[in-house]
Amino acid sequence: MRTPFIAGNWKMNMTAESGKKLIEELKPLVKDANCKVALCVPAILIPAMTEAAKGSNIEIGAENVHWAEKGAYTGEISCTMLKEYGVKYAIIGHSERRQYFGETDEGVNKRTLAALAGGITPIVCVGETLEERESGVTEKVLDRQLEVGLKGIKDITNVVIAYEPVWAIGTGKTATDEQAQETIAYIRKKIGEIFCPKCAEKVIIQYGGSMNAANCKGLMAQPDIDGGLIGGASLKLDFATIVNYDK
Ligand code: 13P
Repeated sequence: MRTPFIAGNWKMNMTAESGKKLIEELKPLVKDANCKVALCVPAILIPAMTEAAKGSNIEIGAENVHWAEKGAYTGEISCTMLKEYGVKYAIIGHSERRQYFGETDEGVNKRTLAALAGGITPIVCVGETLEERESGVTEKVLDRQLEVGLKGIKDITNVVIAYEPVWAIGTGKTATDEQAQETIAYIRKKIGEIFCPKCAEKVIIQYGGSMNAANCKGLMAQPDIDGGLIGGASLKLDFATIVNYDK
């Protein structure tokens, strides 16, 4: 019922040249994928990567989006600007934005509402830190991130959620299949409570955090895990292996 969705997050990596080369190499490898495929890339690379991905099943996304349509927001990028280049997705509230750039749940909410209004599918990231997991407040943290971050959304099925435990990002320390499944099932239940259980069944929820060519099969086999948000492994051809997890 839910179409799986594997997306890459290049973060602050790649150049126009290396990015184009990677996309050219990925294209034939991912063309028969049974899932949706996207690469979220640094804003400056969007025009060149859109061009490189043309005619393929790889869609290009952004790594953030501002809530205003235009104005005095130095360094930010609007939906209108992204749409001009055919951008389909925008990651919002990534833990690195929260940790290093002061992103708040309220900011996540404003960006998410703006993306939806502007026709861009938001990939809203949630997840707990190691300290939060160890002190047993994971569900409380997720509740807050979901309640505030998704406030006022009319149709939650237009939103993609990425569960990214902060302790698993870039650490090589993946959540076990069971941990990821359990937490994502919790997120789905919570979305059901905030919106409606029927809608929650339709929401795509990805796992992110050291997902790679070796562990993708096990994670993707979990009933509530609908995809992945891939950091490090999306910078190489391993991304194609993840996209083809079911083959
Ligand atoms: P890694 O796959 O490098 O752990 O990054 C995950 C992530 O943050 C994707 O958004």
